[in-house]
Amino acid sequence: MTGTYSDVTPITPVLGGMVTGLDLSAPLSLEQFEVLEQALHDHQVLFFREQPMTLEQHKSLGGRFGELHVHPAAPKGAEHPEVLVVHADAESTFVPGGLWHSDVSCDEIPPMASILRIEQLPATGGDTMFSSMYAAYEALSDRMQRLLGELTAVHEGRQYYVGRYGDGHLRDESYPSAEHPALRTHPRTGRTALYVNEGFTVGFKELKRAESDALLAFLIKHCASPEFTCRFRWEANSVAFWDNRCTQHFAIWDYYPQTRHGYRVAVKGDRPFYAPPTAG
Ligand SMILES: [Fe+2]
Repeated sequence: MTGTYSDVTPITPVLGGMVTGLDLSAPLSLEQFEVLEQALHDHQVLFFREQPMTLEQHKSLGGRFGELHVHPAAPKGAEHPEVLVVHADAESTFVPGGLWHSDVSCDEIPPMASILRIEQLPATGGDTMFSSMYAAYEALSDRMQRLLGELTAVHEGRQYYVGRYGDGHLRDESYPSAEHPALRTHPRTGRTALYVNEGFTVGFKELKRAESDALLAFLIKHCASPEFTCRFRWEANSVAFWDNRCTQHFAIWDYYPQTRHGYRVAVKGDRPFYAPPTAG
């Protein structure tokens, strides 16, 4: 992007890009949109500093990339049902996102991307970690890749959401549940990503229970390998924009009893699919 209106500095060789020179509160031109989308495909998660914006501007930004996704726990009658409030303080007994996950992978059609702006921060702490599921897939042996290519993973909202949101607050009055291929072809880049996560995945349909448990435990550990990750230190009005199809993230709750407050919108995606690479 050098030489235009903005630059992207890689965070690691694996994932993450810091974008400068762009005002996200203003409508994106077609060129800006295309460059940002390409940067997201290249870096999987983009970071921005000093991006104050209203909820309307935040929704407009997300809406530029597609129809907005409504979270299963969006309060009924909310003024902005597409905006998820991300909040933790001295009264909190849990923090959303405090384990590795891809957003709402328990939906049949999970959101493809999420855009989070943090407005209020603890003095230190409250970082978010991201992990590349392209890198996680590519690090596996070809035999393991082949096995995973034949498996269907079960994702349950219950295991992530139970006790965390009031029962009357779920979008469809029940916890979402979905089956997705364990490997996922990114519809735009064509690359293969591992699509199994600690937050929502409970097992594999085709395996016996003990096999499924052991494989899932291995993959959860594997996905969190430091070499697949980057860690973002927030400032007030920082924005992170990540691709849920090829990344996972983890919100670190190391700042209790301090307050952290922000807003997230998510963009609707496509039904996950796996198209095995053709033998060369
Ligand atoms: Fe999340």
